[in-house]
Amino acid sequence: MSDRQTDALSRLWPAYGLDVPDGPVVPVDLADLFGRRAPVVLEIGSGMGDSTAAMAAADPDRDYLAVEVHTPGIANLLDLVERAGLRNVRVAQGDALSLVSGLPEDVLDAVHVFFPDPWPKSRHHKRRIIQPTHVALLRSRLRPGGVLHCATDWAEYAEAMKATLDADPELVDAYGGFAPRPAHRPVTKFERRAITAGRPVADLLYRRR
Ligand SMILES: C[S@@+](CC[C@H](N)C(=O)[O-])C[C@H]1O[C@@H](n2cnc3c(N)ncnc32)[C@H](O)[C@@H]1O
Repeated sequence: MSDRQTDALSRLWPAYGLDVPDGPVVPVDLADLFGRRAPVVLEIGSGMGDSTAAMAAADPDRDYLAVEVHTPGIANLLDLVERAGLRNVRVAQGDALSLVSGLPEDVLDAVHVFFPDPWPKSRHHKRRIIQPTHVALLRSRLRPGGVLHCATDWAEYAEAMKATLDADPELVDAYGGFAPRPAHRPVTKFERRAITAGRPVADLLYRRR
């Protein structure tokens, strides 16, 4: 980590961080975490935090909860949060599915899964975040009408995501197919690399019934 990230992590973690322990599920009280009751967007696998920070800055009436395992990415997001003076971001460290298990049902306004690890080998597909049981868990934490938004540059994963999301009886495809690229999703390193390599990026937006 850079000195700046190390410094940001040590100073800002107590106020903005949430530890997600391995093992027993820990309940999370979102109003307590953010100090207010506002719609909450969950950002799964926030990476270096650029998307989270940009979207939270543009959307101050909603709160953004990022979850990531990678410490430098968490530190970088905390640094971005401080530099932009954001009050509507919190950062959880640990496994996204453990965090989601600790949330009450029907509470999230949206769940973002942008450029999740594609796990391209067939024998590793079981590690993918977008698969039926995980989708059922994520969807159960969305409020009715809440949005699950996924994006990937991995064509085979995009088709698998679509099949999985189409098969969930509680989700409705908001666009009847792949969605046009939404302007509110910032371009990150992963998307720039995909564009340079000529790989199309697929967005999928589904609403909970
Ligand atoms: C390919 S990166 C994409 C980062 C970011 N969403 C973006 O578009 O720039 C995927 C991220 O998901 C994180 N990740 C993978 N599995 C995770 C899990 N179970 N819980 C939380 N984060 C996870 C990885 O550490 C990595 O930073």
